[in-house]
Amino acid sequence: MDRIWDKLEHRFASVKERSIISLFDQPDRFETFSAEADDLLLDYSKTNIDADTLALLTQLAQQTGVEAKRDAMFAGEKINTTEDRAVLHTALRANTTTPLIVDGEDVRPGIARTLERMEQFVTGIHSGKITTPGGKRFTDVVNIGIGGSDLGPAMATLALAPYHSGPRCHYVSNVDGAQINDTLRTLDPATTLLIIASKTFTTIETMTNAQTAITWLRAAVGDGFAGHLAAVTTNLEKSAQMGIDPARVFGFADWVGGRYSLWGPVGLPIMLAIGPQHFREFLTGARAMDTHFQTAPLDRNLPVLLGLVGIWHRNLCNYSTRAVLPYDQRLSRLPAYLQQLDMESNGKRVATDGQILPRNSGPIVWGEPGTNGQHAFYQLLHQGTEVVPAEFLIAAQGHEPRLQDHHDLLKANCLAQSEALMLGRPFDEAAEIAADLGYSGDALTAQAHQRTFPGNRPSVTLAYPKLTPFVLGQIIALYEHRVFVEGAIWGLNSFDQWGVELGKDLARALLPMVQGADASDKDGSTRGLLGKLST
Ligand code: F6P
Repeated sequence: MDRIWDKLEHRFASVKERSIISLFDQPDRFETFSAEADDLLLDYSKTNIDADTLALLTQLAQQTGVEAKRDAMFAGEKINTTEDRAVLHTALRANTTTPLIVDGEDVRPGIARTLERMEQFVTGIHSGKITTPGGKRFTDVVNIGIGGSDLGPAMATLALAPYHSGPRCHYVSNVDGAQINDTLRTLDPATTLLIIASKTFTTIETMTNAQTAITWLRAAVGDGFAGHLAAVTTNLEKSAQMGIDPARVFGFADWVGGRYSLWGPVGLPIMLAIGPQHFREFLTGARAMDTHFQTAPLDRNLPVLLGLVGIWHRNLCNYSTRAVLPYDQRLSRLPAYLQQLDMESNGKRVATDGQILPRNSGPIVWGEPGTNGQHAFYQLLHQGTEVVPAEFLIAAQGHEPRLQDHHDLLKANCLAQSEALMLGRPFDEAAEIAADLGYSGDALTAQAHQRTFPGNRPSVTLAYPKLTPFVLGQIIALYEHRVFVEGAIWGLNSFDQWGVELGKDLARALLPMVQGADASDKDGSTRGLLGKLST
């Protein structure tokens, strides 16, 4: 295994000074270093990867067993070893005649039944057949959840705004009372449905927000409050204890990881927003990406290629972050969603065998939509001392044909940024600009340095015809599998999240101290801050 890494390092050393633009001397570089799957095109030609490097990277994928690990995941093997669980979010969108066995049971009938129940519920609400106990239509839905029970549905609901046909959907996640206060204050409890979404039904933020929302409902509608509740969870016992009618509880199994869960009941608010038909199209898009991931050759396989580009940038080029830059305002929550998907999955320093990893794993993922980011942090992307590989997303068409001029500007800006990152502006050209502006001597040199762009900064672009439910399903599944590929190469378990536990334990212990209990065993800073924050 080390030999392939050695070869890659050797390769990197021999090409690292080369300019990316020089690779376009090969006339079909774009065609060769891009790949398509249904409605998605991945262009990775603006990276320093050439045919020899790609061959080594695909060998790395082979030698680290990416294909065998992928097949084990799809087959329902318990690849989440630290939690002894299968990883089968793909089953929620599968349409297979082959049984999917977990712990001796075919999971397909249960998934189909739950999807049907969700559809009946959503259709009932849309048609007005299911109303509030007071006989009114539900106008608003508040999803109370956090992490995987919030980020995916919130992101997808916004992304699919042109398809909204149901009640308005709102999301409350933060335990900060400001969020629930500001959300509920705009709503009429008599026509609001609360969805309490928590895989475990123990998460303190969600349980606290749920109690506050139930109190708000109760004060307005009295004993009929239960008719305004639904739940999404694996913990049916706990949801029953909260008084939620089992007929309004949509269950799922522990082999669906929280951050991979929007394809099933956690996607209920998405389905309420866009309707069952569009939700099915969303699942179909993800399924198309699953099939592509399982069948396309490695060097034409989008999740594998995106993963290998990630490995090249993280482990060979040593870039510590990557920016996700959707030129699609409706994907403005995609970076936040990907932060959980990627960083909670691959932000780890221990391999599946318990040994410390020999090399860096998951990078820091961040981003904002274009063009907003251009007027904020792109300065650093172009001229900062850190190189940040960028990932652009752009549609050929917007949903606003009357505003074609806007979309043309959006596309021009997206293409301009990846071009500018790659080409830069050499010193001589910057000096000419400075001279034209009237500078001379030392002042000209200083100005020219300020106006020089080093360039040679890599990016990939994901292009698609339009942000439809199908395309969104493809994009999310692509990123899920990219995380899988990278995690498999690093040899870590992408499906646990032990790193979130310590803070939770300490918060539990600190709560009484915040409320006045003795804190003398705490460190000086914590004690000092407790004093300063006491009310
Ligand atoms: O604390 C992290 C985490 O466990 C995430 O993995 C999960 O998505 C989130 O909390 C919410 O968990 P739950 O859906 O069980 O409330």
